[in-house]
Amino acid sequence: MYKIQVLVTGATGTIGGVIARHLVAEGGVRHLLLTSRRGPDAEGAAALRAELEESGAQVTLAACDAADREALAALLATVPAAHPLTAVVHTAGVLDDGVVSALTPERIDRVLRPKVDAALTLHELTRDLGLSAFVLFSSIAGTFGGMGQGNYAAANAFLDAFAQHCRAQGRPVQSHAWGLWAQRSEMTGKLEGADLNRLARGGIVPFSSEDGARLFDAARAVEAAVVLPMRLDTAGLGARSGDVPALLRGLVRATPARPARRTAAGAGAAPARPEGLKQHLTSLPEAERGRFLLDLVRTTVAGVLGFESVAAVDAERGLLDLGFDSLTAVELRNQLGKATGRRLPVTLLFDYPTSTAIAAYLEAEIAPETFTAASVTFPELDALESNLAKVAADDEARTTLASRLQDLLVRLGQGPEEAEDAVAGRIDAASDDEIFDFIENELGL
Ligand SMILES: NC(=O)c1ccc[n+]([C@@H]2O[C@H](COP(=O)([O-])OP(=O)(O)OC[C@H]3O[C@@H](n4cnc5c(N)ncnc54)[C@H](OP(=O)(O)O)[C@@H]3O)[C@@H](O)[C@H]2O)c1
Repeated sequence: MYKIQVLVTGATGTIGGVIARHLVAEGGVRHLLLTSRRGPDAEGAAALRAELEESGAQVTLAACDAADREALAALLATVPAAHPLTAVVHTAGVLDDGVVSALTPERIDRVLRPKVDAALTLHELTRDLGLSAFVLFSSIAGTFGGMGQGNYAAANAFLDAFAQHCRAQGRPVQSHAWGLWAQRSEMTGKLEGADLNRLARGGIVPFSSEDGARLFDAARAVEAAVVLPMRLDTAGLGARSGDVPALLRGLVRATPARPARRTAAGAGAAPARPEGLKQHLTSLPEAERGRFLLDLVRTTVAGVLGFESVAAVDAERGLLDLGFDSLTAVELRNQLGKATGRRLPVTLLFDYPTSTAIAAYLEAEIAPETFTAASVTFPELDALESNLAKVAADDEARTTLASRLQDLLVRLGQGPEEAEDAVAGRIDAASDDEIFDFIENELGL
């Protein structure tokens, strides 16, 4: 153990540092080759080196782009024969998030370089060294996708596939597709409330660096090319109505649908499924449909932006002013699309820039189709019918009900006055023969 030398790429980053410390403290590693593009110039690099050396490790800290074949080859040539390289932990990575249409070839290359190019270069330059371990740091974005992370998901999916490929050839390569570390890094430092909220809705819960180090060991002990070390909120996922990612369904026990949630403003309840929404809209008086849809939009806006209360969503305020950007705009459109069962335009938030405008759009799009006369059911009449005997037994209730029903019949054009008018009209318009037929029929002649 004391002879081995471990190369950690991205070692001056947050997780690289955690892993380097862990290798020395728990793994007994005494020789470390630590790299990143900034190397000794990176923030915290000197402190990391000092801490590791204090723990008894010999540290070489070098500035080296892991995708730069020449630079990497030169660095590896400096490794002394007395402490040959025996393991590689490749944690280097960068992010450049954006919606797919904004991902230029340069932005894709930037993110692929430390993952794809560097992994291939590292592999080629170390394949004959007889390494005992080659661990690639990947992300669950490669497995489940990530909002605005088309390039990052592809880069990590490559690492996972590459590990499978190498493993199939008997090489000790393993990809760790990590969930979310709680300790902020350059890569995750920009995550905001809305992003964390979105991840939490997907069951992704951050874990501490201590747990991360333990998960690193646990993952290493698994005989698999790809391991997903992550913390998953299975209960939270189970409460999601039917849209648990297929890969996680086996881990999640579905909980019975909860009664519709009331918004903080005490507004209308939002049914969980699109069919439920249609039914609900159908059952609402026309005047209330708009208000219900506005509540739905405001509740969704609050959820996407990570607001604690829907009251923070001013219905008339521009959504861009409230904090939406292109990624969260897509998230809002996706969530409203899911709730309404409609394919909404990707430009939804830009075409309808306030909650009120989106609600009006939804009402115009959904309500006419949903609310046709034929689709109206009369649950209130069913309830009345089942209580009719009780009403009939009470004189006052019976008289009130009869009078209200007569009112309704008149409004429907079926009341006694309308019936008399209709008969008079028909008699005026009838021929003599028709009148005689009518009298004969009515008198049973
Ligand atoms: N943090 C999380 O929650 C999380 C979750 C899933 C997966 N991961 C993965 O874990 C790894 C570490 O992430 P982190 O959060 O610790 O990010 P971080 O603090 O930004 O660390 C990334 C490190 O990679 C180095 N780097 C970038 N490109 C490089 C290259 N071409 N050659 C050598 N070094 C390079 C960076 O330093 P220079 O800029 O100086 O090169 C930096 O030190 C990444 O691969 C990431 O995809 C992290």
